[in-house]
Amino acid sequence: MDLRLDHRVAIVTGAGQGIGAAIAQTLAAAGARVAVNDLNPDRAERTAQAILAAGGVALAVDGDVSNKFQCVNIVETARAAWGRLDILVNNAGIAPSSSILKTDEWEWQRVLDVNLKSVFFMSQLCGRVMADENRERGGVIVNVASTAGVLTALPFQAAYCASKAGVVGFARECAREFAAYGVRVNTVLPGAIDTPTAQQTERAIPLARLGQAEEVANAVLFLCSDAGSYITGSALTVDGGLTLT
Ligand code: NAI
Repeated sequence: MDLRLDHRVAIVTGAGQGIGAAIAQTLAAAGARVAVNDLNPDRAERTAQAILAAGGVALAVDGDVSNKFQCVNIVETARAAWGRLDILVNNAGIAPSSSILKTDEWEWQRVLDVNLKSVFFMSQLCGRVMADENRERGGVIVNVASTAGVLTALPFQAAYCASKAGVVGFARECAREFAAYGVRVNTVLPGAIDTPTAQQTERAIPLARLGQAEEVANAVLFLCSDAGSYITGSALTVDGGLTLT
């Protein structure tokens, strides 16, 4: 099974900590050159430095993925550095807690912009590059959605649930449309993962523990690699059995 990503260039959004940082480090360890995006420049730099220290190739690109112009900058910075683009991982996300009765329009809009509109912006921008320049080798997009909103509810996270269900729906059509350009599009659905900002549910997890960010990253690596060459339009649950209960 070929999980190597040598010569490939990847962008990982929201990669300054948690799942995104693990994804960036895992793709880099597999040989990819990784543009590490985060809204927080210090976090992006920290992940990029960790990759460099481990012998990988990375650069930090700060930027807010809910802003189209900043998305353009992220994509163009990666291409200017390495002259190609093969992999996009849409990982950035926020999950503020608020009941539906108390959520105001700004809060709703911010969650939808960061979690869903960004996926449209980045997929469109990277899809154009991959369609124009990657004729033979195609490309890969992996989205990090959630079991929440797709397979379960999540208490006081209605906007988050809506945004993540939206990602899954968008990704299905994105996979159909981009297949013509050799670009595969898949989504992972993490359950309860142990990261700095995660608010975990109390539901029983059949595997009896929280997931680790690296365990989500391994699924993303599989989907990015040639080992996943016939997989597109799928949504892969990575939840230790959480949604079985
Ligand atoms: P985290 O909050 O630990 O890290 C997210 C990173 O994204 C932060 O460094 C943050 O600065 C960055 N970010 C936030 N807004 C951004 C923006 N507009 N532009 C660029 N970067 C931005 O999150 P975590 O837990 O690592 O989650 C990563 C992804 O996985 C998210 O999409 C989240 O919804 C999803 N997820 C997480 C689960 C968990 O249990 N931790 C479960 C299911 C899904």
